[in-house]
Amino acid sequence: MTLQVKTLAEYQDAYQKSVDDPEGFWAEQASTFQWKKKWDKTLEWNFKDPDVKWFVGGKLNITENCLDRHLADRGDQVAILFEPNDPTTPNTTYTYKELHAAVCQTANALKANGIEKGDRVCFYMPMVPELAISVLACARIGAIHSVVFAGFSAQALADRIKDATCKMVICSDYNSRGAKNIPVKKVVDDALDMGCDSIETVFVHKNTGGEVEMKAGRDKWWNEEVDAQSTDCPAEEMDAEDMLFILYTSGSTGKPKGVVHTCGGYMVYTCFSFRNVFQYKEGDVYWCTADIGWITGHSYIVYGPLLAGATTVMFEGVPTYPDPGRFWEVCDKLKVNQFYTAPTAIRALMAKGDQWVDKYDLSSLKVIGSVGEPINEEAWHWYDEKVGKGNSPIVDTWWQTETGGILITPLPGITDTKPCFASYPMPGVQPILVDSQGVLVEGNDVEGLLCVKFPWPSMLRTTYGDHERCRMTYFSSFENLYFTGDGARRDVEGRYRIIGRVDDVINVSGHRMGTAEVENAIDEHPNVVESAVVGYPHDIKGQGIYAYIIINEPVEDEDAFRKEVLAVVVREIGPIAKPDKIQLVSGLPKTRSGKIMRRILRKVASGETSNLGDISTLLNPEVVEEVIKGALA
Ligand code: PRX
Repeated sequence: MTLQVKTLAEYQDAYQKSVDDPEGFWAEQASTFQWKKKWDKTLEWNFKDPDVKWFVGGKLNITENCLDRHLADRGDQVAILFEPNDPTTPNTTYTYKELHAAVCQTANALKANGIEKGDRVCFYMPMVPELAISVLACARIGAIHSVVFAGFSAQALADRIKDATCKMVICSDYNSRGAKNIPVKKVVDDALDMGCDSIETVFVHKNTGGEVEMKAGRDKWWNEEVDAQSTDCPAEEMDAEDMLFILYTSGSTGKPKGVVHTCGGYMVYTCFSFRNVFQYKEGDVYWCTADIGWITGHSYIVYGPLLAGATTVMFEGVPTYPDPGRFWEVCDKLKVNQFYTAPTAIRALMAKGDQWVDKYDLSSLKVIGSVGEPINEEAWHWYDEKVGKGNSPIVDTWWQTETGGILITPLPGITDTKPCFASYPMPGVQPILVDSQGVLVEGNDVEGLLCVKFPWPSMLRTTYGDHERCRMTYFSSFENLYFTGDGARRDVEGRYRIIGRVDDVINVSGHRMGTAEVENAIDEHPNVVESAVVGYPHDIKGQGIYAYIIINEPVEDEDAFRKEVLAVVVREIGPIAKPDKIQLVSGLPKTRSGKIMRRILRKVASGETSNLGDISTLLNPEVVEEVIKGALA
């Protein structure tokens, strides 16, 4: 097992070693895994191209490390503990032995249907064990998984399938979420009607058993295909730098890009970070409430916990079903020891009142975590007092789809915690702050743009099919640095506080969205001439979506028009991208070169109507007054 630091001195020592001799440090961690062939060189890198390779020449299969490696010691221990959407349905479990068998069987079913090493397989599934099993089955045979969050629209799914030229889609019939029964297979059918020519097969997992149409020759029942196979499937030999998965994420321009993670480094870092951040001990029950459609689910529901031989809870439902006590009821019932969720869920549950959390025994909790967006002070204290009862440290973990694992976080019981601070870097992580010119911001009690100056094993390697986009997005702003897109503060003791994105990316309920992406969707409405989208502070969601829209023909019923715009956004992206507020305007404030002055729009959306800065250089300063008036109306 990778190192698990237990004291502040051990953390400091590990950190120092990881900076003085990163290769030695990570080689030591990597040597605790099962390799088919040891690596020749620990690290080769430059951030110019960029070209980063960890454990060069090493051969492995990540599933042998998630599964086979544990069979002798903990074959009968629960690996996946499934909590269904309906609280009256009993839990189901997979021990490591059972999970191993299920993954092998599924891997054989993929192979029998023509999936080979290097092929891309797209997922559009609810949070059921078969999702984790199928993801691991891909990794078993060297196929590359691309999991798409099942809340995205058919159009968004089609875009992702085409970008990665996937050969297969794995979906469910229906998705039970709260009181809803979502026709997942139907969305896949609609997506495939949009010209996804690369798809040869669709595996449909029978989840609710509801009626679906099956297209002959293309659609097959997951259950039948898998049941017909043997439980023996040798693990494909993968190079440390072979792709493990693609995961799409939004940026400030264009369509979402496919972040690529590779086998060796991702394995080492997710296991190492899981063990340290959650201080997981043998026999603990760990629960991360994320969806596997996001990176948090990849790294800290599936790979990290299984690599560490943990019991990981998979939850199908939503925090408020059947009532806002669900999270705490499950923590009590399953005796959860580590609980990891998003600030938006904490705020939403906090707003429902203390009675929901006070009802349950949460004494099993040892560590509680937060991820995905800044956690405000009020929510931090509520989480600390009401959920953690003042004695479960909060790990406010900062990281990104691109970083693969948690980079900045307190270590529970080891480093201190401070509300709103992600605190200190993990061993092996070297964050720095720079100003807008790229000049290093030194010392403490300072603010700047958050960059990382040295590679860590689970960093992204490229963006699928477009390496130049990866270079431009992350490595071209500042020489020899990975730029995160976030602004941060470093306090007098050297703790980091993440302020938020400094680019045109907004974070809505922990979901990352490009403003350009939402604008492009809105612009699909035939009566929209132009739109501008900005984020504004929202009590529950963290940020809400505010859309300013210029229309072509006057509309009689503004509310009806707004509804049409929402429907277009749901069609193009999904419900998570629906604007919270829509304001019709006759113009957008623009610079003389025609660029939208988002700074002004952001301020107005936040309720600020004075101190808008210098507007005299605008092409159309008169429009500002109209925008303010409309916002106040
Ligand atoms: O702005 C930061 C915010 O979420 C962004 C990354 O989003 P995504 O790739 O979807 O990954 C989310 C889950 C890892 C970051 O650029 N963010 C993430 N964690 C935190 C955070 N902001 C503040 N505090 C955090 N703990």
